[in-house]
Amino acid sequence: MTTTAATATASSTTTTTLPVLEARDLTFRWPRATRDCLDIASLRVDPGEAVFLRGPSGSGKSTLLSLIAGVVTPRAGRLKLLGHELSTCSGRQRDQLRADHVGFIFQQFNLLPYRSALDNVLLTCEFSRRRAALAVQPRERAQELLRRMGLGPELIARRASELSVGQQQRVAAARALIGHPDLVIADEPTSALDDAHRDAFMLILREVCAESGSALLFVSHDTRLAARFPRCLDLPALQRGSARVEEAAA
Ligand SMILES: Nc1ncnc2c1ncn2[C@@H]1O[C@H](COP(=O)(O)OP(=O)(O)OP(=O)(O)O)[C@@H](O)[C@H]1O
Ligand SMILES: [Mg+2]
Repeated sequence: MTTTAATATASSTTTTTLPVLEARDLTFRWPRATRDCLDIASLRVDPGEAVFLRGPSGSGKSTLLSLIAGVVTPRAGRLKLLGHELSTCSGRQRDQLRADHVGFIFQQFNLLPYRSALDNVLLTCEFSRRRAALAVQPRERAQELLRRMGLGPELIARRASELSVGQQQRVAAARALIGHPDLVIADEPTSALDDAHRDAFMLILREVCAESGSALLFVSHDTRLAARFPRCLDLPALQRGSARVEEAAA
């Protein structure tokens, strides 16, 4: 991916003293829906913070993460990622901001099935020169992250489609963590892991985020994990208006 002058400006003006994420009066409605899925008065995540986000299935957690990552756009309100108001960015600028600053562990992983585990992690650095530069030696760093996630040389050379679901989930995490992202977004990242792998995964995730100074926004149905986070947000409690009524009725 090439970086245009406009996107380069959007990425390079970032400073770490700004909140990583700042939302005000944020509303979002899916096409054809009759009510807002999200209606949030305010939300802020500071650099390096680790935040657990909880809420019942269907309450809008993944939708909120997609908004933060600039995958979908709000109906109204302000949403700033590292000081950049996403609604005033072009689609290309949003894509580049995400590539440069956000590591997203998707609920469905979104790996390229025919590429190796290692190549999937290196894709992050193909899409972002900033992340490639911060990784210093991307191939070595990718191998190290995969090894810390419990995937050795034999597994990382395999196609993603030939890995177990839990192994794919850990590849998706390594892909999100490479290149010191300012924000790591993890959407149910432990759903396919047994207890031992989940505990090891949580340690590595928190450790790599701390080493990199990455803020972490972590979504899980596993409420036992909330105790490991200094801050916990309850999405239904953040909601107001019809979005809140819909949740209460569910
Ligand atoms: N692409 C879409 N188009 C229309 N509606 C959608 C879409 N994706 C999600 N929704 C709706 O938005 C609401 C919130 O969905 P979302 O996936 O954000 O919930 P969630 O809290 O992440 O749930 P889960 O815990 O099951 O992953 C649901 O009512 C869902 O049906
Ligand atoms: Mg979800």
